[in-house]
Amino acid sequence: MKKLDEVKVLRDPIHGYIHIKYQIIWDCLNAPEFQRLRRIHQLGATHIVYHTAEHSRFSHSLGVYEIVRRMISENGDIGQALSQYEKITVMLAALLHDIGHGPFSHSFEHVSKYNHEECTCNIITGDSSIYRILSKENPRLPYDVASVINHTHPNSLLIQMVSSQLDADRMDYLLRDAYFTGTSYGEFDLERVLRTIRVKNQKLVVKESGIHTIEDYIMARYHMYWQVYYHPVSRSYEAILHSFFKRLFDVYHMDPSIIDEAPMFKALCEKEYLTNSELYELDECACQFGFMQLTKCEDDILKDLSNRLLSRHLFEYDDIYTIEQENEYFKWIQSHGFDPEYYMYVDRTEQRPYQPYRDHEDNAIWVLMRDGSIQELSKVSTIVDAILKGENKNEKKVFFPDELNN
Ligand code: NI
Repeated sequence: MKKLDEVKVLRDPIHGYIHIKYQIIWDCLNAPEFQRLRRIHQLGATHIVYHTAEHSRFSHSLGVYEIVRRMISENGDIGQALSQYEKITVMLAALLHDIGHGPFSHSFEHVSKYNHEECTCNIITGDSSIYRILSKENPRLPYDVASVINHTHPNSLLIQMVSSQLDADRMDYLLRDAYFTGTSYGEFDLERVLRTIRVKNQKLVVKESGIHTIEDYIMARYHMYWQVYYHPVSRSYEAILHSFFKRLFDVYHMDPSIIDEAPMFKALCEKEYLTNSELYELDECACQFGFMQLTKCEDDILKDLSNRLLSRHLFEYDDIYTIEQENEYFKWIQSHGFDPEYYMYVDRTEQRPYQPYRDHEDNAIWVLMRDGSIQELSKVSTIVDAILKGENKNEKKVFFPDELNN
């Protein structure tokens, strides 16, 4: 694997520097599909609430790569457990794990059949510059990198490093999102985590002395979810985004000529799945331009929703507990002349900060005890055990136009 003549270092507020030693990593970074991530916000609509949350998927992806690079080069256990080829594979998987993200992150996945993980694998193994870079090095490499991302790689250690309960992806986004939102909830001691992880029977484990750091990390996730990721104001923006696309699809089916005014949405209206080049063109800049164009369209609902998205004229929201309340809202919205189809949005959220064994035992965090045994985290941490036994925090909210309150 060819090394660069000189290590490239990129300034980063979370990790100090990102270090790039291999030509192939540098080439992927410079590929158009990776550069596109500069035009996708890491946190979708969160900058609507926390105005400095303008960071992109580009910087997050570099951060995940840097954590994996440090795991490999600074942690003796991990360094010894992997072959040179596996090290390159897992660093590439870290760098490319989000390359298939669409505009506005996860809210976009609700309006289309789009799935970012599938798109990521399509880019890595399909027609793309990334595929050409990887396959030139080794014809197997694109498939091995994709198999880490879609959880089918035979060496589960690689998968755990990139995507598990204690992975480089989460570690980077918690710290980065906390930094860029200006909140302190997401902070935890990354240096300590990196020092206390070990490999035992191909499993990533944490030394018993690292338990308190891991408890802190789990609490950080819990607070970030409710204070940042599920903030009702950014969900209000997402509700309008949802209605916008719903209306666009409905109008398009009645009269396809609407798309002449916003051709960037053509593929999305016509097809269930986007090709790599269609996805490449659909970044957040294209969407914003589309909203702008549609403020001038004939359809009043689409026009109004576009204006709301551009000028942050958000929906109001309220907690609801029963189906009767939901019906009341439906009638109330209708009686004010708004079509509930596009002006009412009901959203339920639920989050547990840690769920061992949900789909697979790799979804648990394992602790290496002093006597050499391995225990699941909640068995040895009273705090985590208490969180698991506690009630699930969940809520249901209805979103509606604020004009109703005037
Ligand atoms: Ni990520």
